[in-house]
Amino acid sequence: MAKKVLITDTILRDAHQSQAATRMRLEDMLPACEALDRAGFWSLECWGGATFDSCMRFLSEDPWERLRRLRAAMPNTRLQMLLRGQNLLGYKHYADDVVDAFVEKSIKNGINVIRIFDALNDTRNMEAAMRATKKYGGHCEAAISYTVSPVHDEEYFVELAGKLEEMGADTICIKDMANLLLPYDAYSLVKALKAKIRVPIHLHTHNTTGTGDMTYLMAIQAGVDIIDTAMSPLANGTAQPSTEAMVATLQGTEYDTGIKLEDLTEIATHFRKVAQKLKEQGSLDPKVLNVDPNTLIYQVPGGMLSNLISQLKQAKAEEKYYEVLAEVPRVREDFGYPPLVTPTSQIVGSQAVLNVLSGERYKMVTKESKGLLRGEYGRLPGKVNEEVRKKAIGEDEIITCRPADKIEPELEKYRKEYADITKSEEDVLSCAMFPQVAPKFLSERDKPAEPAVRELIVEDLMA
Ligand code: CO
Repeated sequence: MAKKVLITDTILRDAHQSQAATRMRLEDMLPACEALDRAGFWSLECWGGATFDSCMRFLSEDPWERLRRLRAAMPNTRLQMLLRGQNLLGYKHYADDVVDAFVEKSIKNGINVIRIFDALNDTRNMEAAMRATKKYGGHCEAAISYTVSPVHDEEYFVELAGKLEEMGADTICIKDMANLLLPYDAYSLVKALKAKIRVPIHLHTHNTTGTGDMTYLMAIQAGVDIIDTAMSPLANGTAQPSTEAMVATLQGTEYDTGIKLEDLTEIATHFRKVAQKLKEQGSLDPKVLNVDPNTLIYQVPGGMLSNLISQLKQAKAEEKYYEVLAEVPRVREDFGYPPLVTPTSQIVGSQAVLNVLSGERYKMVTKESKGLLRGEYGRLPGKVNEEVRKKAIGEDEIITCRPADKIEPELEKYRKEYADITKSEEDVLSCAMFPQVAPKFLSERDKPAEPAVRELIVEDLMA
């Protein structure tokens, strides 16, 4: 019996987030949208993750406007986003009413599939976002943050998936952000999931350790339903395995994706130019392109590698790269083996940088590390190093309830707080998530005229 494998392409989100610090612009995307829309992907991941922040912080783009333009340009394909559960796209927990409003607006502006995960796999942090996705008619994809540790075995993940299915997931994603899921383990895990779970299984990996394509192939043999790939110009390395390679591999087999290779060439030609541009402007670091099996030891996901490199560059301590990488798993163990994905990857990464650069472990402890150790992000999967916890937070109380239960409704507060500078509920949500970035962006967005143009006209008149 033929079993068509479905494809989600990530060129518009994860591929450039992992390889080029999330710097792809809408104008780089639009020329390829028609061909992307025609190709026959199950979905196109194009929003969420770090793109929202990056739009406002670096690209002077309104993320909501980007979404509406992408929706208009690709009317026939599911648009997919990545959402960090109760953190939304920000870096702290929001009240349930903010989560509800954000999910509603995401769907209203064009998103179909919302992939929801929690860095700690604490399902209490996914409840509100999953409920809202169903309520507003979205496709709710609940993700398992895959990692390897003494507490994370196959049984753990199958049980977690069962819980997420019970909570209403339409598909279950294995989110292997660091390419730690090795091919034979993928086979075994997918088999186990297919035996227990009724909804389709979607696999997300990267090619950081060079095993991504093999992982996909073994997962396909085990019956996986959907896989994430990226168009070749930004594929591989810390991004996803290439779409063309997987399509070609499966062509003519019982797993044929139904996508024609010829239909992909136009898209690839366009993004080769975009990749070249990103390289010229310095956003694409060649280091992230190399296969790095050391990741299997350090367990650092793609996006985190490029962040660490840039943090060390800023501190003029690039030579400490491998020392910091070696510190990462030690910090992770001290913190009870959180999977490394936003925001825990940044928390563990920054703490590892501090531990190395300050010359004494936990001499300096970030606010976020303290929060994690206090339970503010949810339940840590394993046992915490109590000595480290004491050094970091002293005798502070540790939270054991669903963290969001401690947060009063806050949407109205944000509406009032940002009333002067916002024009829509979407703007309010941007400010709520990025209070350091969004207000400045909005004031510039809404400026009446381009000063550069005005000066030019004045100069012309003077001449
Ligand atoms: Co990813």
